[in-house]
Amino acid sequence: MPHDDPSTYLFLLAGAREGGNTETLARAAAAELPAHAKQTWLDLRELPLAPFDDVRHAGDGVYPQPEGAEKILLDATLAADNLVIVSPLYWYSVSASAKLYLDYWAGWLRVPGAGFKARMRGRTLWTVSVLSSTDHTTADPLVGTLRLSAEYLKMNWGGALLGYGNRPGDITADSEALTRAKTFFG
Ligand SMILES: Cc1cc2nc3c(=O)[nH]c(=O)nc-3n(C[C@H](O)[C@H](O)[C@H](O)COP(=O)(O)O)c2cc1C
Repeated sequence: MPHDDPSTYLFLLAGAREGGNTETLARAAAAELPAHAKQTWLDLRELPLAPFDDVRHAGDGVYPQPEGAEKILLDATLAADNLVIVSPLYWYSVSASAKLYLDYWAGWLRVPGAGFKARMRGRTLWTVSVLSSTDHTTADPLVGTLRLSAEYLKMNWGGALLGYGNRPGDITADSEALTRAKTFFG
């Protein structure tokens, strides 16, 4: 299997509105990536996934080759060494679209020929999130969901960049988060 360029980043936008604080914070962090780093930005609102179908233990348990939005997401996921979930904090966790994307991983592990498990190993998962609480520990469920999912796939955990915002634009006043953004990808 050819090794993908370690400086490829896939940013998955998982918010439910345009021009959200979370995307702004993610773009501030991405702006510091070296020029040679390849950035791909995909908006999950433009790539809607059907409800996940758990057929793991039905019949042969094999999932069909993905098509449409699912194929775009699988191909982009496999093409990136760094996967960045850009999700606002919704009910202390990832947004529904981010969660649905993660649920699809359970199917991708069973797509013949995809090599999902072997190929995800050693890659790095990161997250950028904005919440309307100043208490960042309230994002622990979001961080735990992603960190443990990374662990499950033997991915590296890059870390979480968290900021404060409620109304669009609020993040521009969180100077501490914007400062952390500058070195987030290190
Ligand atoms: C469905 C929903 C659930 C939310 N749940 C939380 C929450 O649990 N904790 C919190 O601090 N903020 C919560 N918020 C506020 C958002 O995290 C906040 O407005 C954030 O700025 C949204 O990100 P965005 O600007 O990128 O869209 C919630 C907002 C929505 C729409």
